[in-house]
Amino acid sequence: MPVDSTTFRSVLGQWPSGVCVVTTTGPNGLHGMTASSFSSVSLDPPLVSVCLGNHLPSRTLLGEAGKFAISFLGKDQAHIGRRFAGQDREITDRFAGLDWTMTPNGCPVLSDAVAWLDCTVAHAYPGGDHTIFVGAVTEAALPRVISPLLFHSRNWGQVAQPLPATVQVRDTASPDDGLRFEFVADGLDSLPSPERVISAKRSGTCVVGYVTDAFNPDREDEVLATIGALGALGCDEIGCIESATTPASPLQVTRILQDASVRVRPAVLRVRLNGHNRLALVNALVAMKNGVAHFDVGNTGLPVDDLLHLSRQLEVNGPQEADLAQIRE
Ligand SMILES: Cc1cc2nc3c(=O)[nH]c(=O)nc-3n(C[C@H](O)[C@H](O)[C@H](O)COP(=O)(O)O)c2cc1C
Repeated sequence: MPVDSTTFRSVLGQWPSGVCVVTTTGPNGLHGMTASSFSSVSLDPPLVSVCLGNHLPSRTLLGEAGKFAISFLGKDQAHIGRRFAGQDREITDRFAGLDWTMTPNGCPVLSDAVAWLDCTVAHAYPGGDHTIFVGAVTEAALPRVISPLLFHSRNWGQVAQPLPATVQVRDTASPDDGLRFEFVADGLDSLPSPERVISAKRSGTCVVGYVTDAFNPDREDEVLATIGALGALGCDEIGCIESATTPASPLQVTRILQDASVRVRPAVLRVRLNGHNRLALVNALVAMKNGVAHFDVGNTGLPVDDLLHLSRQLEVNGPQEADLAQIRE
């Protein structure tokens, strides 16, 4: 017996996916639509697929053009997803007012997409009321490092990180043991030279770059650019310091760390929260939910006992008692 369509749709809604805009060209110019049916198919040769409803103009145009491009949407582009799904009634031209780049194949991609792929149609298979287009990927790029937009339960969402299994602490007041090369950067013009970092790494020293005043909303672009530059420099650990004068809000901690956690990889992401901020523990929880497992404590940082209490309440493994005893001394 066939499954009833309401149940089927509800079941499909439980499968979270990313969101992309599929674009192609037609006799009347550019065309694009929102799709969540994107899937990777093959690595060698590079193939991807997307399923388009047979009744859609996009399906006809894409089949005729024999080429398409895919722009992956970022967490701040739900409005573009809505627009290209025809849900924004006020929009007559889906492409208007957005910044586009033309691919070598001649398809438009969003200049600030998380990533894009340029494809030529390799196969078109019947798939019920949809057509399964398999595209041979001819070009690819990652223009913007930002976490992706998700679609789940008929709603737009973002990646939520689970809590870390273990939280680790480092005492900022502990004497320099010579095994760490730590520096603090205000912005892009206060980074050490690549040679300095390379020589430290060669001698087995852990390179730790911190960004000051990292949760100041007025500095968001500069902070994220500096974090990206620290990653490119090859830092082993990248830290975000909350300033004493601009207390971090949980919202801003989320905004910075959600993107920072993607940009720092494979480096470790550290956070030094201001213990005097009345929201310090809330911010610590938000930091953990955004992938931070390494916290600086001591001096004006978060009190280690508070962090320990929080991690116990969250059933997250805390720092070892032996390490704590050293910090409390
Ligand atoms: C999040 C989301 C994902 C979608 N994914 C698909 C999809 O994978 N395939 C499809 O045929 N339609 C999909 N749609 C619906 C199309 O975007 C919508 O029908 C669009 O208006 C088609 O454009 P067109 O009428 O210009 O061809 C999706 C809609 C949303 C909101």
